[in-house]
Amino acid sequence: MNFNLKIWRQKSNKVPGSFQSLFVKDISEDMSFLEMLDKINEDLILKKEEPIAFDHDCREGICGTCSLMINGSAHGPQKAITSCQLYMREFQNGSEIYVEPFRAKAFPIIRDLIIDRSAFDRIQQAGGFISVNTGSAPPANTIPVPKEKANQAFSSALCIGCGACVASCKNSSASLFTAARIFHFSKLPQGQAEKTNRVLNMVKQMEKEGFGACSHTGACSVSCPKEISLETISEMHREWRKAFLNKTT
Ligand code: SF4
Ligand code: FES
Repeated sequence: MNFNLKIWRQKSNKVPGSFQSLFVKDISEDMSFLEMLDKINEDLILKKEEPIAFDHDCREGICGTCSLMINGSAHGPQKAITSCQLYMREFQNGSEIYVEPFRAKAFPIIRDLIIDRSAFDRIQQAGGFISVNTGSAPPANTIPVPKEKANQAFSSALCIGCGACVASCKNSSASLFTAARIFHFSKLPQGQAEKTNRVLNMVKQMEKEGFGACSHTGACSVSCPKEISLETISEMHREWRKAFLNKTT
C-alpha cells in the first residue's frame, strides 16, 4: 500500500510547527500505524534526516501514550481502540493521511507528535488515591462490594490517561478523565472516607491546569478508547455539588 502522509513537525513549543509531506510506499496492510511510523523513521535515519518523534510504550492499548490525531480523529477513524491498535488496512490505498499531536493548551507540545500530559498526573495527585496503610493484601471477601458498584469502579479504572477526551472536546475539557479517576475510588467502600475532598480537590486541580468546562457534547466519550460513558461526568457534577454543600454548610 502507498500513502501520502502529512505529518506535524515541530522542534518545541517555542517555535511554530508545520506539516511535512511524505510519500510512503510498500506498506503492508498488516502493519500497525506505529509500525508504519517506525518504517518511515528507518528511512529518514538512513537519509540522515531527523526521525519523527512520537510516543509509545506497550503497543497494546494499555499505557495510553500513543496519542495521535489521525485525519482529525483522536486515535484514528475506528472506535474503541488506541493509535497503536490501528492497522493500515483500515485506510484506502493511495489516500492522504494527516497525523497531528493531541492539541490542548494544557498539553504543550514537546516535539513533533509528543505532548506533555503531566497535567493529568497533577489531577491524579490532587486526590486520586486512598491514604490508608493497607498492609498486606486481605482475603478478597473481607470487604463485601456490591456487584453493580464493583462494575462501575472497574469501568472507571479502565481509563488509560491517553487524553483523547481532551483532544476531541471543543472546550479541551478533562472532565471525562477526571470523573473516571474519581469514581475508580469513590465507588468502593475503601474510597468513602476521602470522597468529599477527592472530588473537590481533583476538580479544582483540573480547572487550575487550564482545561475547559464540559458542555456535554459527548465527543469525549465517543473518542475514548475505553468507552467511558458520558454519565460519569454527570455523576461527578452531582458528587461535586454534594461535596461543596457539605463543606460550606
Ligand atoms: S477517559 Fe478515555 S479518552 Fe480520556 S484519558 Fe481516559 S481513556 Fe483516554
Ligand atoms: S502504545 Fe500503549 S496504548 Fe498505545
